[in-house]
Amino acid sequence: MKRTLNRMTKITPNKYFQKNTSKDVWTLTNEFAASAVGKSEGRELINLGQGFFSYSPPQFAINAAKSALDVPLVNQYSPTRGRPSLIKSLVELYKPVFGDFIDNQNVLVTTGANEGILSCLMGILNAGDEVIVFEPFFDQYIPNIELCGGVVRYVPIHPPKEMKTRNTTGDEWQIDWDALEKTFNNKTKAVIINTPHNPIGKVFTEQELTKLAQLCVEHNTVVISDEVYEHLYFTESFPRIANINEDIANLTLTVGSAGKSFAATGWRIGWIISKNDQLLNYVSKAHTRICFASPSPLQEACAGSIEHALKIDYFPKMREEYRKKFEILTTAFDKLGLNYTQPEGTYFILVDFSKVKIPEDYVYPEELLEKAKDFRISYWLINEIGIVAIPPTEFYIKEHEKDAETLLRFAVCKEDEYLAKAAERFQLLKDYL
Ligand SMILES: Cc1ncc(COP(=O)(O)O)c(C=O)c1O
Repeated sequence: MKRTLNRMTKITPNKYFQKNTSKDVWTLTNEFAASAVGKSEGRELINLGQGFFSYSPPQFAINAAKSALDVPLVNQYSPTRGRPSLIKSLVELYKPVFGDFIDNQNVLVTTGANEGILSCLMGILNAGDEVIVFEPFFDQYIPNIELCGGVVRYVPIHPPKEMKTRNTTGDEWQIDWDALEKTFNNKTKAVIINTPHNPIGKVFTEQELTKLAQLCVEHNTVVISDEVYEHLYFTESFPRIANINEDIANLTLTVGSAGKSFAATGWRIGWIISKNDQLLNYVSKAHTRICFASPSPLQEACAGSIEHALKIDYFPKMREEYRKKFEILTTAFDKLGLNYTQPEGTYFILVDFSKVKIPEDYVYPEELLEKAKDFRISYWLINEIGIVAIPPTEFYIKEHEKDAETLLRFAVCKEDEYLAKAAERFQLLKDYL
């Protein structure tokens, strides 16, 4: 041990990682959940925290993955842009969405959406370039921007004023247009949007996307449109910024993920689609540096899965299944009189816990005392009710945490029976209302 430390003292690691040493929400929540399992004799802990699936990918996807491994060459490197079979399936998937602009050169396969977004940022950013991020934000965006030398500029999406007194909808969360217009300047290089939005479940409207597109075209700004929940929308349609007009299509990098589409977050296959193949080339150059290529058997598996999914209308059916999943939980919250944001998309629901009376003298671990209130509500819920949720202030900067400090995010990408068990367990909250 001593020798390791001595060796380390001669090395100055990346300053970014030295500076950011506090535990993230995933580590903290998982640690609290693990310690609660030890304490709660016989009671199963119900985990609705992180967005991973409690069930397997569909059988057709598993079969596609298994047979991919049997082909010798599929176990070797893939081309850096992606395997021809997956590129072909993605072109087939997106042609009806984006029209004729989409061809092989408009697709890049990545190692999950997260690596895809990092590649977009590394491909376009120079030190000091600014990236506009809407708040709340998916937490991975921030280190990805900063590690590429970018500067994050935050613009709020304001919550509905009546969130504590009635159920609200995703579309009631409103972009602060004033703040957005003032944030654009000659250093602005990109804007990241996420629709359907994690964690608020908002699907950006055509009107909002048009206004945003105008600003981006005016300021010659790239849009990284994170659409990983593209198949999980419950609105009539799902508008995409790349479809607003040709100018914005040429500035847009659209991000997708097989993990969300096929209940396979561990496969780590994602993709970037862009009308602008020259812009996409720079993203591809970054992707080559980061990981050279993405896992071959799982690319083949995704290619086969997309082909099959299109034949059997898998995505609309999946949406219907999710409506039911949400309903199981919302019925439980309705019974308790707890208000929530009815999601327009994603597999997350935000619930307001301001009516829940947690004993004032409840004892929390020291590391939570500095955190926003939702971290303490989440800790209490894990230990006293046995349900894991994510505190959403992690998706805010310190100054704006107040907007979300009474909310908790629950993931419904779980089996119906598991959600029914959760719905029943939630009723224990009656004693605290
Ligand atoms: C909004 C958003 N973007 C990107 C990702 C990352 O997706 P992937 O698992 O494909 O890297 C997630 C995963 O939770 C997400 O919620």
